[in-house]
Amino acid sequence: MKTLVALLCTISALAGSVFPYKCISCMCRNSTTCQETETECLGDRCMVASQYYYVVGKEFKSFYKGCANETLCETKGAGIMKNAKFYFWTHCCTGELCNNQVYELPKEDPTPNGVKCPFSLCVGTLEECKTDKEINCTGSMDRCIDYRATLRIQYEKDTNYSGKGCVNNDTCRNNLDSNIGLEEIHRGYLKC
Ligand SMILES: *[C@@H]1O[C@H](CO)[C@@H](O)[C@H](O)[C@H]1NC(C)=O
Ligand SMILES: *[C@@H]1O[C@H](CO)[C@@H](O)[C@H](O)[C@H]1NC(C)=O
Ligand SMILES: *[C@@H]1O[C@H](CO)[C@@H](O)[C@H](O)[C@H]1NC(C)=O
Ligand SMILES: *[C@@H]1O[C@H](CO)[C@@H](O)[C@H](O)[C@H]1NC(C)=O
Ligand SMILES: *[C@@H]1O[C@H](CO)[C@@H](O)[C@H](O)[C@H]1NC(C)=O
Repeated sequence: MKTLVALLCTISALAGSVFPYKCISCMCRNSTTCQETETECLGDRCMVASQYYYVVGKEFKSFYKGCANETLCETKGAGIMKNAKFYFWTHCCTGELCNNQVYELPKEDPTPNGVKCPFSLCVGTLEECKTDKEINCTGSMDRCIDYRATLRIQYEKDTNYSGKGCVNNDTCRNNLDSNIGLEEIHRGYLKC
């Protein structure tokens, strides 16, 4: 009897550490109606990510739910350039199926924060996009960015972009390629 109890305890302890956790899973590309399923994860953490960007007349909103990627947990990226805008938000939680949040785009604080940055966007070049224009940065976007890269936006043909504007600290730390629907093919220059 003693050994059976010991065995059962061992089995349940193993089950707790070995059997995978479940998380809610979905990937909505430019849509808010997501087909949710369940997925098994190795860790015990789940993640929700939402993203918005606008580039020269094109808008894109997406949501992701699934296993946590610890390098992306709790980011809150935000950036603005001339004719371009970007928000990225992730949240991780612990426990089975804990990522049951509603789909919500990140909100940004529109209050000017006193920082001013050059404000430009040049399409079709990786050269510096020079400008005399300035923008009053808002909310968490307290530093200036100069970014030049070849981007593939939602499967369209690769295009070179070069621009300046305001970003927050998480955007500089996490790079712009941790994205859904926007792929950085080649990084020409990044300075925050
Ligand atoms: C995303 O959806 C919006 C409508 O909700 C549409 O105007 C826009 O063109 C779509 N973006 C892309 C990149 O397909
Ligand atoms: C930035 O803010 C200043 C006031 O601090 C204002 O005079 C200026 O017009 C603003 N610039 C822009 C581009 O909004
Ligand atoms: C980024 O800035 C926010 C405030 O806007 C601050 O709470 C956070 O600690 C900063 N993160 C890093 C890594 O500096
Ligand atoms: C981007 O610019 C580089 C350097 O000028 C050039 O070699 C490349 O072909 C350009 N890419 C596109 C997609 O235009
Ligand atoms: C987590 O995100 C980072 C940054 O985007 C990426 O490089 C890495 O491959 C991701 N890891 C997994 C397991 O998906």
